[in-house]
Amino acid sequence: MTDQAPPVAPGAYTGPSRVLSGVQPSGALHLGNYLGALVKFTRLQHEIDTFIFVADLHAITVWQDPAALAQQTREIAAAYIASGLDPDKATIFPQSAVREHAELAWIFQCVARLGWLDRMTQFKEKSGKHKERSSVGLYTYPVLQAADILVYKATHVPVGEDQKQHLELTRDIAGKFNHDFGIPGGAPVFFPQPEPLIQGPGARVMSLRDGSAKMSKSDPSDYSRINLTDTADDIAAKVRKARTDPEPLPETIEELAARAEADNLVGIFAALSGQTKAQVLAEYAGKGFGTFKPALAELAVEKLAPVGEKMRGLLGDPAVLDAILAKGAEKARETAAPTLAEVKKLVGFWGA
Ligand code: AMP
Ligand code: TRP
Repeated sequence: MTDQAPPVAPGAYTGPSRVLSGVQPSGALHLGNYLGALVKFTRLQHEIDTFIFVADLHAITVWQDPAALAQQTREIAAAYIASGLDPDKATIFPQSAVREHAELAWIFQCVARLGWLDRMTQFKEKSGKHKERSSVGLYTYPVLQAADILVYKATHVPVGEDQKQHLELTRDIAGKFNHDFGIPGGAPVFFPQPEPLIQGPGARVMSLRDGSAKMSKSDPSDYSRINLTDTADDIAAKVRKARTDPEPLPETIEELAARAEADNLVGIFAALSGQTKAQVLAEYAGKGFGTFKPALAELAVEKLAPVGEKMRGLLGDPAVLDAILAKGAEKARETAAPTLAEVKKLVGFWGA
């Protein structure tokens, strides 16, 4: 048997547009998460039916302290709401509270091919030199991600650039499922092929210490990232200490491309101010970092410090967060359960 994705079943998906995304509760959130994911969620909730979850099933693919996991889940929910997600508009829930994710993931494990998973670069990065010591879940992680998305028949997935390959796998799984189990006779295809929403200057925020490395919660240096819970003083200090070069900012994006650190700071400025990088350069071309960094620090404090404040406020009343999560899980199940029931029928399970 070949490991190539088979051709997509004929016919177009005709269901409604739906947005879905999630973030793992496995460490403090940083500016990359905020710009690559959180702010996009809040924009989309006004346009499309939006499901945003806390990916706790994914988090345990690496060790998580059981005494801390529920609180980490609340922290992500608090970050969502503090960034502007409205629980009355978007459905916010913990992944583990909707069992349909895990159940569909098993069926998808039987649809996805080993060859497809062998190509996943995130597994290679996360497992490092000791692949044989990684959990099996870390390897099948992208299959669960496909189930997260498709159990809601989501059509659009806002994520940072690092998730692009997982979205391609999701599309391959949807295509193969439609091909292998689709409703015969040319009826509309069962699963959509979801589109990643990645564009914009915040899609790949780099480390403040090294313009060639992604801003990441696993970087040992706290100065490499701005955490959502950093104080105004921390944020300003981190921008001030960010690595740069001695040149003034150039006129064009092309000239910026060869200067990773400068490019990153201009990208962050653009994303935080809702501008393009070209617009930022139009204002700062010819100016040095002595001028640009204080402006960026001020902007970052203005945008991020209130998010941290609001998070702390929400975490002060866990009962409110828990009620939001419980209600979200109930609402999510209303969409996920019918999809899973249909899938079980298509696969041919007894009693389905
Ligand atoms: P994670 O922290 O890996 O669970 O990522 C949560 C979300 O943030 C995903 O949509 C990622 O693509 C996004 N993300 C993580 N790091 C970055 C980064 N440095 N730049 C942009 N987006 C990011
Ligand atoms: N893998 C994503 C990350 O690390 C988190 C995630 C899990 C996700 N399931 C998802 C994102 C479904 C979008 C859609 O960031």
